[in-house]
Amino acid sequence: MRLGSIFLFVALCSFTAYYIYEPIPEEIEERWKLMLTNSFFRSLSHLADLSELLGLKDYMGVMYFITLAEKVVPVSDEHVKVTEEKFDGVEVVLYQPKQRGGTELRRAIIYLHGGGWCLGSSRMSPYDLLARKMVTELDSVVLSVEYRLAPAHHFPVPYEDVYRVVKHFLQKGVLAQYSVDPGRIAVSGDSAGGNLAAAVSQQLQKEPGQQVKLKAQALIYPVLQALDLNTPSYQQNQDMPILPRTLMVRFWSEYFTSDKALFRAMMANTHNNPESSSLLKFVNWSTFLPETYHKKYNYSAPAVVQGVGGEAVGMDGPSRSFADPRASPLLVPDTALHSLPKAYILTCEYDVLRDDGIMYVTRLRAAGVEVTHEHYDTGFHGGLMFTVWPTDFLIARRMTDNYVKWLKENL
Ligand SMILES: *[C@@H]1O[C@H](CO)[C@@H](O)[C@H](O)[C@H]1NC(C)=O
Ligand SMILES: *[C@@H]1O[C@H](CO)[C@@H](O)[C@H](O)[C@H]1NC(C)=O
Repeated sequence: MRLGSIFLFVALCSFTAYYIYEPIPEEIEERWKLMLTNSFFRSLSHLADLSELLGLKDYMGVMYFITLAEKVVPVSDEHVKVTEEKFDGVEVVLYQPKQRGGTELRRAIIYLHGGGWCLGSSRMSPYDLLARKMVTELDSVVLSVEYRLAPAHHFPVPYEDVYRVVKHFLQKGVLAQYSVDPGRIAVSGDSAGGNLAAAVSQQLQKEPGQQVKLKAQALIYPVLQALDLNTPSYQQNQDMPILPRTLMVRFWSEYFTSDKALFRAMMANTHNNPESSSLLKFVNWSTFLPETYHKKYNYSAPAVVQGVGGEAVGMDGPSRSFADPRASPLLVPDTALHSLPKAYILTCEYDVLRDDGIMYVTRLRAAGVEVTHEHYDTGFHGGLMFTVWPTDFLIARRMTDNYVKWLKENL
């Protein structure tokens, strides 16, 4: 698979040298490497569009190649015991330290991979490597959840898979089986995984019967709201590598429905309806973004399509769930935030999702939650995952090290 993916990488790059000259901000390190990497993503995306147009395979079906190209079979090594299990019917890859240092209980991290709820797998080599690093450096158990994906499984299936795994794992009997300390468990994820991690953290603290609580949530460039897809970061970074605005909007709409009406409405930022409009106050960037992130942009509230009429008509129930806090965790009042576990939030300057993360930082802090905010001035979306040659970036190593360090000190 590895050789095949390198071959394809090179082939696609040479076929599409033309795509390489995408302007990328000067501040970004290893610009040429990122241009090359991005040319691969862009070519694949164009191929996917073409394929869908010709009725061959749908867009996400073609994009899934990214996942396949990086898939590995997670196996045990000298230090880490790896098993594949089912927790309440959901597939998980479980990483445990081999060294048994006496009877001491360990930390655990429930990890949720990214990929816009449509792509990705816990079995991709960057996630496999990250899990092993966490096991060895943190002496922790890592539970990587293979939740089902859209568009085959729309919201709330991916979320519910994650929820079921977390509920199953947080039982005292189950934790004991893996020598996990019930007081040292975190949930974490990147991008759409950060969305799922934030959502499940909110759900758990709402349940009075939940005995074992999460100690921390670590959100790496998370997606947190679907109401305003024109925040300054969406505008500034609409053509940035790896995750252009069109792709993010595509992920959002595919999470809920394959009906293209939602995609078109979200592209125009005209998807809000009278119900969702009452929640716009929770994502008002003019209030929740520090002045420096306003940049040259002026706030204007997203349009609200009144009553039945226009493109929003076709929108059925599922299309409207973008305002469900299990999909958009920013859409809850402060009272639903104040008892959340302490948080680590990583954001990148060159990322459409930058402002989602920063608004959550502001809102959590205002609600009294302890938050560590790490912002990468030269960071781009997906950065942490680029740890494997030939798409290995220095920034990925820095991000990984800082993230693991935070877990070491806070979990
Ligand atoms: C957003 O905040 C600004 C200023 O804080 C305010 O003028 C505006 O009415 C708010 N809009 C919404 C939709 O909450
Ligand atoms: C934002 O508002 C200011 C003051 O009203 C104006 O000068 C500026 O041109 C506006 N910026 C944009 C991008 O519209």
